[in-house]
Amino acid sequence: MIRIRNLTKVYSTASGHIKALDSVNLDIEKGDIFGIIGLSGAGKSTLLRCINLLEKPTSGSIEVDGVEMTRLSPRELKEMRKKIGMVFQHFNLLSSRTVRENVAFPLEISGFDRKTINKKVEDLLELVGLSEKAEIYPSQLSGGQKQRVGIARALASDPKVLLCDEATSALDPETTMSILNLLKDINKKLGITMVIITHEMNVIKQICNKVAVIEKSRVVEHGPTIEVFSNPRTETARNFLKSIAFSQIPEELKTRINALNHGHLEGRVVKIDFFGEITARPVISGIVKKFGVDANILYGNIDHIQGTPFGTLVVEFLGKNGTADRALQHLKDLGLDVEVVENG
Ligand SMILES: Nc1ncnc2c1ncn2[C@@H]1O[C@H](COP(=O)(O)OP(=O)(O)OP(=O)(O)O)[C@@H](O)[C@H]1O
Ligand SMILES: [Mg+2]
Repeated sequence: MIRIRNLTKVYSTASGHIKALDSVNLDIEKGDIFGIIGLSGAGKSTLLRCINLLEKPTSGSIEVDGVEMTRLSPRELKEMRKKIGMVFQHFNLLSSRTVRENVAFPLEISGFDRKTINKKVEDLLELVGLSEKAEIYPSQLSGGQKQRVGIARALASDPKVLLCDEATSALDPETTMSILNLLKDINKKLGITMVIITHEMNVIKQICNKVAVIEKSRVVEHGPTIEVFSNPRTETARNFLKSIAFSQIPEELKTRINALNHGHLEGRVVKIDFFGEITARPVISGIVKKFGVDANILYGNIDHIQGTPFGTLVVEFLGKNGTADRALQHLKDLGLDVEVVENG
């Protein structure tokens, strides 16, 4: 659906040149909810704005639905932009227009007749759950409701692609969830391809099937979300992952671990990081049976990315005659990421 090749964008300013994008290559397929995550200033907004040519690339190509965007005439570009909806962080609603009139705005510009516009707006407001608020002005809406209007307006021209620039960054966590669910719903119902820019790992985790990590103007990792975050290759990706996985053992727990008394048994306290099919819990009960050790779970933390569990467990294994060590080796052989925290 979107094919980006060698995209470079250099801003020329009074104080010199800023390379905001450096040879970016990306393929976004039809139906993807494609997340682009990176720190502030990495080039995310620039990349998004290059897709609909709000920002003119310095070099490189951008193909949307088979059309090379950089070669379009102004008139062709105007037509093409109807296929590409955009949702903004600060909603960009017209304050002097009601909710209904805001959503109708792009349709009026396109010259649709009143009857068609009314029907379309009804449908869109229903889709985003705002039928009741049609005659209200933006100033009387909550942030989440404003964003619903922004989304309805972006959908008015029946776009094939929806570009969202930090669409949830101005919202509280609960409202963020409801907007993310709405976007997911729209992706499913209408089959619209979405490109979602964010600096929040939570957004990626909730709805993006694919992700690209952008760092200092370059895409440093990309692929299916599960793959990128089950095997992060860059520090940036690892840090984003850490922002949702509390893989650090709490200090207070460390103190308690050091004070553990294993009695006459050999004790091994291990931290197990797991991701994907190997969920640690059944593995541990299997080990208890197989090696005849005891296992106490001291700490656990599980989260999900697109339904795939990942997390950390801290477990104390107690056994005799080397069974605890054999149990540990078995966990490692299974491919789990095991670290011994304490030997006793
Ligand atoms: N219009 C502009 N003129 C000059 N420099 C710009 C312009 N827009 C962006 N930049 C610069 O390009 C770089 C990338 O900016 P961009 O807005 O794409 O980052 P971002 O990843 O979206 O950051 P944020 O998370 O803060 O929104 C930054 O160094 C920024 O200062
Ligand atoms: Mg930005």
